Amino acid sequence: MITVRKYIWLSLPLAMIYFLHSRGIVKEITSHLMDGTFSVVDTIYFGLNGNSGGQRVFTASELKQYTSLESGLYLSILGQVFDVTKGEKHYGPSGSYHAFIGRDASLAFITGEFDEQGLTDDVSSLSVRQVKALDDWLQFYNENYVYKGKLYGRYYNLDGSPTTETDRVQEKVLLARKEKSLDDEQKRMFPPCNIEWNADTGTVLWCTKRSGGIDRDWVGVPRMLFESANKQAASRCACVQLDSKEYEENIAMLKEYDGCEKHATKCVLVMKKM
Ligand code: HEM
Repeated sequence: MITVRKYIWLSLPLAMIYFLHSRGIVKEITSHLMDGTFSVVDTIYFGLNGNSGGQRVFTASELKQYTSLESGLYLSILGQVFDVTKGEKHYGPSGSYHAFIGRDASLAFITGEFDEQGLTDDVSSLSVRQVKALDDWLQFYNENYVYKGKLYGRYYNLDGSPTTETDRVQEKVLLARKEKSLDDEQKRMFPPCNIEWNADTGTVLWCTKRSGGIDRDWVGVPRMLFESANKQAASRCACVQLDSKEYEENIAMLKEYDGCEKHATKCVLVMKKM
């Protein structure tokens, strides 16, 4: 009994050692000491937020460690980190997309600018549609590669919670989805015409039951469809069902083509003489 009491103080350091090991802190300190990138803050932080089921929060300097086949090839997009080692032919040191590795270069996924200025996570310059395209890349990585966690910085806080920048990106993605479903709805109501041009005949526009890739049981007649009732705005050729309520409701945005008979399903545009 006396012997047990004598050594009871040892339980505290032993518990500490067990804790550091179980959180991977010892391994992390050793690897950072070996490659000369030891940072107390990063290391303790990693220990407390270690890789438990992909919920690790990486610091930028930690992410920089994953740029070789030995360490694994990691990239971040909109602050989400993926192991893309299996895409070695694209992301390996001699791959075309190695520039994405070890960092968050979200902007370059859209601009294709792989210089230092272009390799940034700042996507505030992107339009709603471009942010949606970037979000599609994020889905691509989710579907094809291994999710590893979050990157601390622009998009995620140290505790892994999203920043206001992530909220802003999400708002743009939602807006793009709404715009797309409105576009799809409009395409169903007014399917695009087939269009052909050649030097002899000029522009020919015509409607079929499949024009614009919209399968339907009516053909329709070609009309100019404007973005708004302002007929100076941009327009496209739409196939319109003249006896439909959609036609009645949107008549202010529609206009007949010059020289095209009202019920003709095909129009040859009159070329203006120079
Ligand atoms: C904004 C510009 C571009 C970006 C950000 C980009 C990005 C990427 C990425 C990340 C991959 C790897 C996908 C994976 O993990 O499987 C990829 C693959 C590929 N890219 Fe690009 N790309 C761009 C432009 C282009 C262009 C202009 C071409 C063609 C001229 C091209 C041709 C390809 C091909 C052929 C592959 C697939 C190769 C394979 O699977 O073997 N990319 N691209």
